[in-house]
Parts: sequence; structure tokens; C-alpha cells
Amino acid sequence: MDNGVPSTVDELRALQLERMRATLRHAYDNVPHYRKAFGDVGVKPDDLRELGDLARFPFTAKADLRENYPFGMFAVPREQVVRVHASSGTTGRPTVVGYTRDDVDMWAEVMARSIEAAGGRPGDVLHVVYGYGLFTGGLGAHYGAERLGCTVVPVSGGMTERQVQLISDFQPRVIMVTPSYFLAILDEMEAQGVDPASTSLEIGIFGAEPWTEQLREEVEQRSGIKAVDIYGLSEVIGPGVSQESGETQDGLHIWEDHFYPEVVDPVTGEVLPDGEEGELVFTSLTKQAMPVIRYRTRDLTTLSPGTAYPQFRRMAKITGRTDDMMIVRGVNVFPSQIEEHLLTIDGLTPHYLCVLTRPGRMDELTVQVEAASAQSTPAEREAMAAQLRSRVKDRVGVTVAVDVVEPHALERSLGKAKRISDQRPK
Ligand code: DLL
Repeated sequence: MDNGVPSTVDELRALQLERMRATLRHAYDNVPHYRKAFGDVGVKPDDLRELGDLARFPFTAKADLRENYPFGMFAVPREQVVRVHASSGTTGRPTVVGYTRDDVDMWAEVMARSIEAAGGRPGDVLHVVYGYGLFTGGLGAHYGAERLGCTVVPVSGGMTERQVQLISDFQPRVIMVTPSYFLAILDEMEAQGVDPASTSLEIGIFGAEPWTEQLREEVEQRSGIKAVDIYGLSEVIGPGVSQESGETQDGLHIWEDHFYPEVVDPVTGEVLPDGEEGELVFTSLTKQAMPVIRYRTRDLTTLSPGTAYPQFRRMAKITGRTDDMMIVRGVNVFPSQIEEHLLTIDGLTPHYLCVLTRPGRMDELTVQVEAASAQSTPAEREAMAAQLRSRVKDRVGVTVAVDVVEPHALERSLGKAKRISDQRPK
């Protein structure tokens, strides 16, 4: 691991405290939003004496970034911002984030660390499929891979046929891509008569969307690669907030010397002890252009002690986002729970969509899932649907309808897959 990185938990906590104090001060002194938000609850940066005092400080939400669109959350003069990224912003204004030269440098460092933790090495050919542009995936991966010393192939998303061609020709060892789009690439390989297990790829670094252990198994079996999880969000830095080790594949180590995690009860906001599931909250510890204080990610996970990197806590694979939670007849369901089960049924694929409707007074959930074979008969498809219905009923406790559709009937995304179609009347 790079120089200057704390190697014990005690060293880490001391560094976090020092950096957190500096970050609170920097945010308070330079961002009107934070000065006001701190003032509203009566706290000052110096009220942080130990890490636990962070709980006294106010949360920051996506809405705060929107209200300060575009550059109001910046803590440095705009001229010192060397890069901006932005979220797509499906509703309303996008959220904008900014980086100083030092921020870009820190990001490259944590990304290089992530790729190395996954098993990437200097000299590897590394194929980047994450989108380049305002999305943080492409450029984030790119700078990190260059920093590590890889030969980077900056393909970006789309043109699936060409992705396969470039993989055959350039012989990458590592690919960085959303897991859902990797499935589309595997399908394309098969369509071209390329055996996915025969390519040069050894490691896939998958993130930007939730994916399950079942999908990992499926992908590893089909392609013979090692599939590891990478997590991040634009507001905190981009990809490279946490990374699963290729050696242990047991959840994602959070690079806690730069990003301080808390898990809170999503309803009350109360800080939960490690080991309990709740909403992940981050405070940046070294960012200059756009420090974030207690940023609510809406992602649900659990913190546990480090393994491959014992000083850094791990987060469990994200089970879902608070805003992706569907409530069906009073039962909370996430798309990942559906994915978990549909992958256990022969003849079904991981291409699926959860459709929410309200035909009467109650919400109904229909799972549309593609059959693996165009040749399967209506009776066979009904049998698969029945299996999935009963498995979801037994394990998740909810009644869903299942519609087994033709292969390729559902839209493929080039980046993050859309897993929910909400067709309920507004
Ligand atoms: O998705 C950054 C990223 C790019 C991460 C490439 C990993 C790889 P945003 O577009 O701001 O940033 O979206 C962030 O995506 O709050 C999660 O809900 C989701 N997400 C990201 N990584 C994972 C993951 C990038 N490994 C939002 N598992 C986050 C589950 C993920 N969800």
C-alpha cells in the first residue's frame, strides 16, 4: 500500500480526527451552506473533540447540492477547480461536483489502490467501459489505472460489437464495467462465436449499480474471470471510495483515510453500531474543492472489521437504495432480492425489470425476466415463472407476478441498468 497510509486502526483514527477537524473548519469557513447548517443546530467546527462527536453535526443531502446548483457547494475559488463532474439528474437539476488539482490527485491514488486491491498490476492492459464524460466512472477509472501504471484502453460504453473486437485484439487482463453491461458484452461474445471463458480477461471490476453474489457466481462461471465489487459516488469523489479485495472477495474495504463512514437509521438518522444495517453516510476527510459533511448516500449496507486491509472497515455489498425500496402489500422489497432468486432458476437470465403497477388499491409487482432460450415453450416458461413466484413468496414473503419474456426483449443499458419501472398512477 502507498506511503503514508496508516497501517493500524489506532494510527488511522488519529489521522481521521485530525483530518475531520480540518475538513469541518474548511467547510464552515468557505461554504455558506455549511455555516448556516451548523448554525441551525448550534455546532461549531471546534465542537468535534473525538470522532463520535460527528453525530452532532447536520447531515447533507442531495437536495442541498441541488439548491446550491451549480457551484455553491465549492469551498475554493472556482478558478482552483480543475474539473467538474455531474450526475445525470433524472429529475430536475443535476448535482455538480468539483475537484482541485490535489483532489484529482487523491482520487487517482485511491483508484490506483482500488485496482491494485482487485488484483490489477502495473503493466496490465486495462479496458475501461465506464462512460467518459460528466459521469465519474470513466475518467475516475482512467486516472487510477494510469497512476498504477497500466496500459489504459479508454473505450467508454456502447458499441458492444467493438468492445468484443477490442478485447480480442488488445488482450486486456482487467476490465472495468457495470455488471449489467458486462452481461451484454458476454452475450455479444457468444453471438460472435467467441467463448467468454477463452479471452485474456482475468479480472472484472464491477460497480456503479447493485449486483448480487448470485450474479457474481454466474459471471465468474461464464467468463472464468474474478469478479470484484467497486463502490463510489460522485458527491464523495466518484469510484474508488471502497473496493473489494480480489484475494478475499468478502465485501468492500473503505479507504477510510479519505472517506469517513457512518451507518445510520434511515428514518431517525441515529448512528448505528458497526454490524447493523442502515444507510451509509460519508464525510470526506481530504477533499478541498467540495468537502462533504455527513453526506447521505441512501445506500443500505453494514460495516464490519477489515480483513485483507485490517485497518480499514469493510462495507457489505449494497443491498439497495432507500429510494429503490418497493413496498408490495406491506413488504419491503429491493430489486437485488429478486435478482438473488431468479438466478437460481434454470432457463432464466439475469436480464430483468421490476414493474410496479396499482390496478386497484394495492401496489403490484411484476417481474419481467428474459428466458435464456428463444426455443423454450410457453409451458416451460410458465414452469419457470411458477418456480420464481414460489421462491420469492417463500424467501422474501411477497406475492409477485412473473412474466418470462423473449431473449433480448428488455432494454439493455450501456451503464447503470434500470431495474424498476414505476407505472403506478401519480
Ligand atoms: O456510480 C461512481 C462509480 C462509477 C462507482 C464506477 C463504481 C464504478 P454516481 O453516478 O454518483 O457514481 O452513483 C452513485 O451508484 O450511491 C450507489 O447507489 C450506486 N453504486 C455505485 N457503486 C455501487 C456498487 C458512481 N458497487 C450511486 N454497488 C451510489 C451498489 C453502487 N451500488
